[in-house]
Amino acid sequence: MDPMNRRTALILGGAGAAAAMAGAAGLLWGQGSGFQSAGGQDLSEPEALYSADGRLQVKLSAALGQVLIAGRDANALSYNGSVPGSTLFLRPGDRVNVMLENRLGDPTNLHVHGLHVSPQGNSDNALVSVEPGTSFEYEYRLPADHPPGVYWYHPHRHGSVADQIFGGLYGAIIVQDPQPVPVSRERVLVISDISLTGGGSIAAVSAMEKMMGREGALVLVNGQLNPVLAARPGERERWRVINACTSRYLKLRLDGQSLQLLGLDSGRYQSPRDVEEVLLAPGNRADLLVTAAAGTAVLRTLPVDRGSMVGSMMGGNNGGGQSPAGPDGTVLATFAVAGAPAAAPGPVPAQPVPRDLRSLAVTAHRELVFAMGMGMNSGGMGSGLMSFTINGRPFDPARVDTTVPAGAVEEWTLRNTSPMDHPVHLHVWPMQIIEQAGRPVDTPMWQDVVNVPARSSVRVRIAFDDFTGKTVYHCHILDHEDSGMMGLIEAR
Ligand code: C2O
Ligand code: CU
Ligand code: CU
Repeated sequence: MDPMNRRTALILGGAGAAAAMAGAAGLLWGQGSGFQSAGGQDLSEPEALYSADGRLQVKLSAALGQVLIAGRDANALSYNGSVPGSTLFLRPGDRVNVMLENRLGDPTNLHVHGLHVSPQGNSDNALVSVEPGTSFEYEYRLPADHPPGVYWYHPHRHGSVADQIFGGLYGAIIVQDPQPVPVSRERVLVISDISLTGGGSIAAVSAMEKMMGREGALVLVNGQLNPVLAARPGERERWRVINACTSRYLKLRLDGQSLQLLGLDSGRYQSPRDVEEVLLAPGNRADLLVTAAAGTAVLRTLPVDRGSMVGSMMGGNNGGGQSPAGPDGTVLATFAVAGAPAAAPGPVPAQPVPRDLRSLAVTAHRELVFAMGMGMNSGGMGSGLMSFTINGRPFDPARVDTTVPAGAVEEWTLRNTSPMDHPVHLHVWPMQIIEQAGRPVDTPMWQDVVNVPARSSVRVRIAFDDFTGKTVYHCHILDHEDSGMMGLIEAR
């Protein structure tokens, strides 16, 4: 840490631990013309692609190559040469065609995380494999009543999901509101992490880091380190925040500014909630209103204790997922508010009353047990040091683990017997959280990634509406998913 001052260390976040594990490679990136000049630039946003007349056609070419990361040229993965990839602005009822071209050395595919679309055929089919040198055309048809909100796309090829997302493959999807919320500006903030070598290549990840769920040394906002977002006092902004980190939890704060949460994932609250902090597990998204107050505020993520590995093995200390940033956390961005005050924004339009499955009859109860074991059960997957299972079994694409009748309303207990948190994600159908930490949740809360804390359980209800076919549920610590913590579900 010697060559760096404290502020740089804060910006670097996990660099200390990553360097300890991987040698000093991660730090070299910060020397020379690196970090100091990279911070402080205006926030840049990915290219915006809007659907028109109900259609959007996009080509995404996944490749390893030169791409701008943290203000420097890196050799990383990207869609069409930019990290993050373009933002897709859609509307309910749209038909979206994505031509995915695989110019990687490994198979890949595409998943539209959170969208309520068919999992079959060339729609959001998690079981497709697009081989190197080939292309595949996806077509997604959003229902006319698709919930507006913040979604995202990323690869989902089992076994390499963590590597491919960590390497730079992700982008935002916004499903626009029927009635816009009056704001001075909207921003898309894709938060991701990556570790780069001194030469700017993606750093190797150890088996131990995979077991924990890797956390990158650099925490990026739209591929930048500590970008500046400028506003005038009184302006209201809408921030669409995506946690695209492979394993890192975000506990976001923007002290000195007023934050209101419109919703998380596809779940919109009936009225915006005042919040001081927003916790996003990997895969979660926040739809946030920020009302600017004069001054300079720092968007930071505070350390999150997401449990640790078996004590005897790791000796506890920092063997867990807790990022080694100081108590002030990691700086993500600077919100600089100055100038003539803006007129007060118009009211936020009334939001629809959220659906509440608690009033419906449950057609089945199920329990999914998320477990980590000492190798015995690993089925040859993943790091080999540890098995990651759901109901005792690692993922097998040839085995359907859960069959649900189309239209069912089920209640699932998500039980975590391990010493680490697991953020549980189900494709296609969102989950209503009805009980957390043994206590009922009294207002409708809809998410598609639900954190299940270590040695704890969460109960959710799910309505298997609109679509049939096979898809998956899994831990969204993507190293755990790649190591087998995923199951196949078929609605029919
Ligand atoms: Cu964000 Cu199964 O994925
Ligand atoms: Cu998903
Ligand atoms: Cu996990």
